[in-house]
This record gives sequence, C-alpha cells and structure tokens, in this order.
Amino acid sequence: MEELNSFVVVANRLPVDMTAHPDGTYSITPSPGGLVTGLSPVLEQHRGCWVGWPGTVDVAPDPFRTDTGILLHPVRLTASDFEGFYEGFSNATLWPLFHDLIVPPVYDVDWWHDFREVNLKFAEAVNQVAAENATVWVQDYQLLLVPGILRQMRPDLCIGFFLHIPFPNPELFRQLPWREEIVRGMLGADLIGFHLPQNADNFLSLTRQVAGTAGSHTGQPDELEVEGEAAIREVKAHVITADGRKVGVGAFPISIDTGAVEQASQSSVEALRADLGSPEIVFLGVDRLDYTKGILQRLLAFEELLESGGLDPATTVFLQVATPSRERIEHYRVSRSQVEEAVGRINGRFGRMGHPVVHYLHRSLPKDDLQILYTAADVMLVTPFKDGMNLVAKEYVAAHRSGTGALILSEFAGAADELTEAYLCNPFDLESIKRQMLAAVHDLRHNPDYAAERMRANSEQVLSHDVNVWASSFLTCLEDFK
Ligand code: ADP
Ligand code: F6P
Repeated sequence: MEELNSFVVVANRLPVDMTAHPDGTYSITPSPGGLVTGLSPVLEQHRGCWVGWPGTVDVAPDPFRTDTGILLHPVRLTASDFEGFYEGFSNATLWPLFHDLIVPPVYDVDWWHDFREVNLKFAEAVNQVAAENATVWVQDYQLLLVPGILRQMRPDLCIGFFLHIPFPNPELFRQLPWREEIVRGMLGADLIGFHLPQNADNFLSLTRQVAGTAGSHTGQPDELEVEGEAAIREVKAHVITADGRKVGVGAFPISIDTGAVEQASQSSVEALRADLGSPEIVFLGVDRLDYTKGILQRLLAFEELLESGGLDPATTVFLQVATPSRERIEHYRVSRSQVEEAVGRINGRFGRMGHPVVHYLHRSLPKDDLQILYTAADVMLVTPFKDGMNLVAKEYVAAHRSGTGALILSEFAGAADELTEAYLCNPFDLESIKRQMLAAVHDLRHNPDYAAERMRANSEQVLSHDVNVWASSFLTCLEDFK
C-alpha cells in the first residue's frame, strides 16, 4: 500500500514532464509555468506529496521521490481527457473567460463533462494518498471542482484552494453555463486564495449573486452568506458561510524563491552580450507563448521605434524567449505564427548580415541560462494583456537587486500591484509601450541613479515578499479555518 501523507498538493501538472521510452524508462524535463516555480520550493520544505499529470497522455509511472525530496504521484490522463478537460474546458473555456475574453471562450457541454470526470479522477488520487486529517492544497483553474468533491469524499481533510490566474468580474463569469457548479466546487475548500484583493472581491460578489440564484431556483433560502471581513493573523480574509461551513476568501500574492536565485557570473553575461553583437541596449522578453502575454505587441512597439528612429538598429537588440505552450489550440497557433512573422519581418527590415535585431528562441531554457539573460538585459518587457501575477517580472527584478536594469510592466499584470516602481504601460496601447521603452532607455543613459532607485525599490519588495511568505501566510490562514 502507498505511503499516506499529511501534506498533499494537487495540481494539473507535476513539476516535471515525463516522456515514456519503449524500454520502459522515462526522460524527465521541468514542466512550464509559474505554478511549478512557486510551489516546488514549498513542497521541498514540507517533504510533501504532489499529485498531478506527468505531461504525456496515457502515462502513469509509479509514485517516486525527486532528488529534492518531493513525492510525485502521477495521475493518468487519456488522449480524450487531454482534449476535453485540458485543451477544451481548461484552456479554451476557462482560460479565456478568466483572462477577460482576450479571445472568445467556447462553451461545450462535452468538455464540461470531461472536466467533471477528470476533476473526480484527481480527487480520487488525493483520496488514495492523503492521511487522516491531512492538509490538501488544491491548485488552479483546472481543478476548480476538486475542493467540493473532496469535501464529500473526505470530510476529515483540511482543504485549501489557490487560483493562479485572475478571477474575472462577475458580469463576465456569469456567461459560464456551469457557473453555479464551479462556485460550489470552489466553496468545498476551507480557504480560497487569490493573488489580488480585486480577484477576491470579484469572487465574493459572485457568491452573493450565485447564492441569490440558488435560492430563487430551488425555492430554498440562500445557503451562502457573506459575513464580513476578519483580520486573520495579519492576513485579511473574508469569511463566508456556505452550507453551514465557514470558508475564508483572501488575497495571497505569489512570489519566487529569492534565496535560491544564483547570481549569473560577470563572464557569462559578457559572453552573451558579445554573442548578441555587443549592443548598447538589450531588450528582453521571456514568456510561455500565450496570447495573453502581449508578445506581438511589444515586438510591434520595437519595430515602430526602429522605424521612427527612436531606437537605432545598429546599437539595439531584442531577445525574445518563448516556451512552447498548448500548441494544438487554435488561438495559440495563430499567436505563434503572428509572433514568428513579426520576428522575420523586423529582421528583414532592420537586421544586417550576421546581426539580426531580434533574436528569437522558441524553447524552454535551463534556469541558469535564464538567469544570465535576465542579468544581461538592460530592459525587460513584461506586457501581458492580463496576468494573474507574472513571476518573470519578479525573477528579473531579483536578478537586478543592485539597481541595474529597468522593468517595463503591464498595468494588467498582478505583479503591477507590488512592483509599483516599474515603468508601467498599457499593452493595448502601442504608444504607451513605446513611451516606456524610450523612458527606460533615457533613464539608463542619462539618469542612472533614478533608474537604480526604482529598480532597488522593486527588488526590496520582492526580496521581502518571497515565496515562503506567500506559502506560510496561506497555510497559516488555512489552519485558522479548518
Ligand atoms: P505563467 O505561469 O503564465 O507561465 P509566469 O511568469 O508566472 O507565467 O511564470 C512563468 C515561469 O516559467 C517563470 O518561472 C519563468 O522563469 C519560467 N519560464 C518562462 N519561459 C521560460 C523559458 N523559455 N525557459 C524556461 N523557463 C521559462
Ligand atoms: O499559471 C497558469 C498556468 O496555467 C499553470 O496552471 C500552469 O502550470 C502553467 O500556467 C503552464 O500551463 P500548462 O500547464 O497548460 O502548460
């Protein structure tokens, strides 16, 4: 019988993607995204169990412990689960709906059924590994129904839920044909966490509306009641009564493991800049290739500045690293081809033989290489149309704690709430991105003390609010609600 665990995290993905080989062995690569970046150090500290999908369909290796001490419990997803639950309901319904309809969400009842079934599958896997009275921390939009299912299956568990993406305005959320089931699924948790107070407020307004809807449909009195705000150990959490249980709702902004950041060596940074043709200014973008990230917009802003003479192609380069993501979904395919077309066009117009102005890598990079890029970049562009938090912005800032560099940050990224000294831009407005690119370059050239002051203020915020602060504030608050 499998080992039982007192601390279990369940997320759609494991921190590694596993590819099966014909000889029965597996190759393992780190899996993409901010959720893995945020949670890995927490699981290492707790020697916890991580339940999740290993990134390849029809593969479910036996549970095993990583070198860093995390017990991985793989959940098998079939090709049909992958299509309906992952590509369909999670990433073509919920993802665009929760990111304020940047593309139109698709509402498909078959995907909804797949979503319910796969959520049940994850809950059953948790049931198998969770010890009596264990703490189970459910992660993100792919598993919105898991808290409710677990509450029925295992009333002994203490259940937390954290949403890593934005939670939309109720007016948008109410489009979802299965809105009541989703809200009730979330309310199975003892504590529901969001990145920003705004997300928590959206959820609270929605529960009021859904409670009203439930009451009028069933003819029963409302079961949900918002009781007000309680200061729970310095963390502001609202308390809701749902089906006679107290549920906490609060904001807990995720962060990075600043203690584990290995500073890049001067020589590797110099070597990279030499490889790029020793430019005066290096702009950098690092993202999953997702249409929410505004990659095309920042390239277009760069192109227009080259065109107008605001930036000189002889002394400026743009480096864009884009991790392949959700590649079979139509809007992701369109986004990739638009980005790649722009890269080709800009290089065709402004590059010289052997000296492209845009360097584009469509792949994942090892953490150390990423750290060299962050350190080498004079100006980082993080320009999502909407983002729950955006850890790339925090990683860049942590690499520039001495005050070098400049961060251009979308005001629609959750990170903008904390990194208030970044050069904030509106990614829907190319003029705004261009203005901030020029302002950052101007300050680095002519007002370096001012640029350094801004960067140091941002770094201090990140260093004093690292991932341990996030995890411990959530888990401490969860204790109070169990
Ligand atoms: P999201 O969760 O939407 O992908 P975040 O910015 O919050 O966005 O997190 C992305 C994480 O993935 C960061 O920790 C970042 O370092 C990592 N990452 C992004 N692009 C790459 C890449 N090309 N290679 C390796 N890691 C990457
Ligand atoms: O942060 C949002 C998120 O969807 C995470 O849940 C996920 O780990 C990451 O982005 C990467 O997405 P995916 O697992 O679909 O590749």
